[in-house]
Amino acid sequence: MKHPLAERFDGAAEILTEIDARIPDTRDYTTETRATIDAYHPKRLLLRVAAIIDETATTKTFRLKNHTDDALPPFSAGQYVNVFTDSTSRPYAISSSPTTLGHYDLTVRRVPGGRISNMLIDTLRIGHLLTTTGPMGTFHHNPLFHGDRVVFLAGGSGVAPAMSMIREIVELGLERSFHLIYGSRDAADIIFRTELDSRIAEHPGITVDHVIAEPTPQWTGRTGFLTADTIQDLTGPLDGRMVYVCGPQALYPYAVEQLTALGQPRKRIRFEANGAPSDPTAQPHWPASADPAAEVTVTVGDTSFRTRSGRPLLDALEDNGIRPEAACRSGECSLCRVRIVKGEVHTASESRLRLSDNQFGYTHSCVAYPITDVEIDIHSSPSIPRAIRRA
Ligand SMILES: Cc1cc2nc3c(=O)[nH]c(=O)nc-3n(C[C@H](O)[C@H](O)[C@H](O)COP(=O)(O)OP(=O)(O)OC[C@H]3O[C@@H](n4cnc5c(N)ncnc54)[C@H](O)[C@@H]3O)c2cc1C
Ligand code: FES
Repeated sequence: MKHPLAERFDGAAEILTEIDARIPDTRDYTTETRATIDAYHPKRLLLRVAAIIDETATTKTFRLKNHTDDALPPFSAGQYVNVFTDSTSRPYAISSSPTTLGHYDLTVRRVPGGRISNMLIDTLRIGHLLTTTGPMGTFHHNPLFHGDRVVFLAGGSGVAPAMSMIREIVELGLERSFHLIYGSRDAADIIFRTELDSRIAEHPGITVDHVIAEPTPQWTGRTGFLTADTIQDLTGPLDGRMVYVCGPQALYPYAVEQLTALGQPRKRIRFEANGAPSDPTAQPHWPASADPAAEVTVTVGDTSFRTRSGRPLLDALEDNGIRPEAACRSGECSLCRVRIVKGEVHTASESRLRLSDNQFGYTHSCVAYPITDVEIDIHSSPSIPRAIRRA
């Protein structure tokens, strides 16, 4: 039947006749579509360590190739893969350029006392295989929404996504201005220093400034932290530029405070935190009565175990052999979503919950802390009393 509106357009009659004359396409595209989706967005990749590069005394880059030697799926500079190992997983940003799909580079810095960063740095060898997710995450540049003038504040290993972005800008000669302000503890800690400094000469839009917190007398550059004064001195008025922030958890509230003091609107700040908050009790909505060292019981189906209130639920589940899907481990991707059937959890403010999650009792277990005995459903279904405490 012809839609009356269609007849009001020139050529409508011819188009409708052509549509009527078409032989209906009854082919089943399911397998073909699945294969295309899997090629671009694989759930898992099996990667072989092809090279290991010593970046600093505490940082190594692992060059990973597809175990089949085929090209890897495309990604956007700024994205990460989640590495599965030792019954848990950790996300690492891809530091190589998206123009090179023969390998992904992951640049891992040792976190003192950290379980997986130390294990990767100390035990991973050329030829070893790693299972990862495909590239994920929304911390990448979209020129349409973010414009072509970017400031990037990086702390420590937070420089990895910036390195990928800079490599792409230079290699493709993109018309973009990209100002990296990179904070490190001391000069020996600067990752990619030689390459960063040489990339400046290769593209007029790239600027790199190092800021050193604990300088030796030989250091002649900027010192201190990424304060509002330092940012303004280096960038001038931010003037609508998009500001990316990437580094340890503590960098975020600090950077937002400094940028807000400079009049930067919150919606022009993009942030990626390297993990769950190290101290959830420092968040203003942590209940004063909750002791992070207190033991509580977590029940999942017919399994129960004890854990500390200050340990993220996802870590506690993994400690007990239960492994919900997970990727970012910082509240962003929502893959680790669970439903709180009974009891109360503290959900960290960085968790990107939907309004309906709060309403129906869902939380992101990677940044949720059980502050009472809790019963959780990891296979979720709707309609449940509200049990999540969130700012
Ligand atoms: C999206 C994303 C991308 C990331 N990309 C990188 C990357 O490119 N390179 C990289 O080295 N790391 C990166 N990380 C951090 C990484 O995933 C791990 O959190 C980190 O390697 C520590 O893991 P661990 O098992 O050694 O420490 P854990 O045993 O998990 O933690 C030990 C303690 O250290 C604290 N901690 C964890 N991470 C840090 C940190 N980065 N700085 C200071 N304290 C910390 C924890 O709060 C905890 O108290 C990224 C994290 C996210 C969420
Ligand atoms: S693993 Fe991504 S939100 Fe928890």
